[in-house]
Amino acid sequence: MAKHKTPLLDELEKGPWPSFVSDIKLEAEKRAKNDAGLDFQIPQDCPDDLLGVLELAYKDKETHWKHGGIVGVFGYGGGVIGRYCDQPEKFPGVAHFHTVRVNQPAGKYYNTEYLRGVMDIWDLRGSGLTNMHGSTGDIVLLGTTTPQLEEIFHELTHNLNTDLGGSGSNLRTPADCLGQSRCEFACYDTQAICHALTNDYQDELHRPAFPYKFKFKFDGCPNGCVASIARSDFSVIGTWKDDIRIDQDRVKAYVAGEFKPNAGAHSGRDWGKFDIVAEVVNRCPTKCMSYEDGKLSIDTSNCTRCMHCLNVMPAALKIGLETGATILCGAKAPILDGAQMASMLVPFIPVEEPYDEIKEVIENIWDWWMEEGKNRERLGETMKRQGFQKLLEVTNTKAIPQHVKAPRANPYIFFKEDEVPGGWKHDEKGYRERHMR
Ligand code: HEM
Ligand code: HEM
Ligand code: SF4
Ligand code: SF4
Repeated sequence: MAKHKTPLLDELEKGPWPSFVSDIKLEAEKRAKNDAGLDFQIPQDCPDDLLGVLELAYKDKETHWKHGGIVGVFGYGGGVIGRYCDQPEKFPGVAHFHTVRVNQPAGKYYNTEYLRGVMDIWDLRGSGLTNMHGSTGDIVLLGTTTPQLEEIFHELTHNLNTDLGGSGSNLRTPADCLGQSRCEFACYDTQAICHALTNDYQDELHRPAFPYKFKFKFDGCPNGCVASIARSDFSVIGTWKDDIRIDQDRVKAYVAGEFKPNAGAHSGRDWGKFDIVAEVVNRCPTKCMSYEDGKLSIDTSNCTRCMHCLNVMPAALKIGLETGATILCGAKAPILDGAQMASMLVPFIPVEEPYDEIKEVIENIWDWWMEEGKNRERLGETMKRQGFQKLLEVTNTKAIPQHVKAPRANPYIFFKEDEVPGGWKHDEKGYRERHMR
């Protein structure tokens, strides 16, 4: 018997998509029965009260969480998002409802034993509810009380060898696409570098030392399966320098209909017979492909590595062998001064252990931004305020045409004094000798 009436939420149990309401109800029932005989460390009916307060929020069309909340574990300055209900008497089960961010493995591969380990801790010391995963990547343990935080942290670290994720003005939990683990487009080992850099910068992740938050994300290729270009201040996107490898026999097999275009991604609708000219050659953004006498060729010098042709004919076209990555900086959501996607900083950089070249770029950016960034100013905004030129200087990057989509159209151009013969010192007297007032 449910603790609260939830007529609005009950509506969301209808329909084909997995219902979060049905799932929370199941968890509430499971806790009520308590077959495992747990000595629950937070209210047994926590999930019931969560449904109760959510139903109230649906009715009022207002949230019922108080503002903010500062909780955590000793030694760290982040990792836990504190939260308190603004109707604690009606819903005592969620009077405290803190969220614990737990650092996920790169690529989010698990075994059952590990996940059971997490849930054993969480069933006892938390609500039993989770988010798999937070948008940044963390395993999110949703809802516990303050006294349980150190207990959970102790068990995560001592029993599961697992740390917390990041929150606050620091390096947040890095994330990556699944990369070479099961994608033939991956130009570098996204999981390896994500894991290595997460370990290298643990201090920056656990103890806020930055003007604002900072995120890393690693995409194995320009398809952007972890959306690093939109969702990380420091985005690493795999690419290659040499030729796309073409298997002409397999190209013929695509043309003959033996392979499905886009690996069958459009098989839900009849798009007609595969037409390599219409679907690949003419779609190439740089028009650097040709298909003549049954032979596909690509003018590599004009290929921008957009991925389109590889995506359409994955069995016939492969990434080059000289692989590496592009570094882009400054992506952020709208607040304060407008949304930004990342801007290209380093067109090609090797991605090899121990990643010294990439770490040098990161650390140069941090040295600059940590000094110059204003309070709660994202890297992207510092770049706007101080100029892209400044970012190039601090990262010792030579300006190249690839740094811009188009050159500036306004003539408000700053020169450095030493670039200008004579400098800025102005001899008014000499001028007046030539030009009378
Ligand atoms: C080779 C000679 C000249 C050059 C290269 C020149 C150039 C310019 C430029 C670049 C502007 C700004 C246009 C804008 O803001 O969109 C301007 C505006 C103006 N010029 Fe000239 N100019 C010249 C001669 C003159 C002379 C001889 C006069 C007056 C006797 C004059 C009067 C003005 C005025 C009043 C404006 C402002 C117009 C406005 O704001 O609508 N200019 N000029
Ligand atoms: C008391 C006298 C003057 C005042 C109060 C005045 C004021 C202004 C103002 C407010 C602007 C616009 C600035 C801006 O858009 O940021 C301007 C622009 C301009 N003025 Fe004057 N002005 C004066 C005299 C003159 C004279 C005598 C000339 C030329 C013989 C002149 C030529 C121009 C020109 C060419 C511009 C356009 C500059 C540009 O677009 O970059 N002004 N002036
Ligand atoms: S971003 Fe590229 S390499 Fe990574 S999973 Fe997606 S398609 Fe594969
Ligand atoms: S990767 Fe893109 S730009 Fe390069 S040849 Fe293929 S379609 Fe053209």
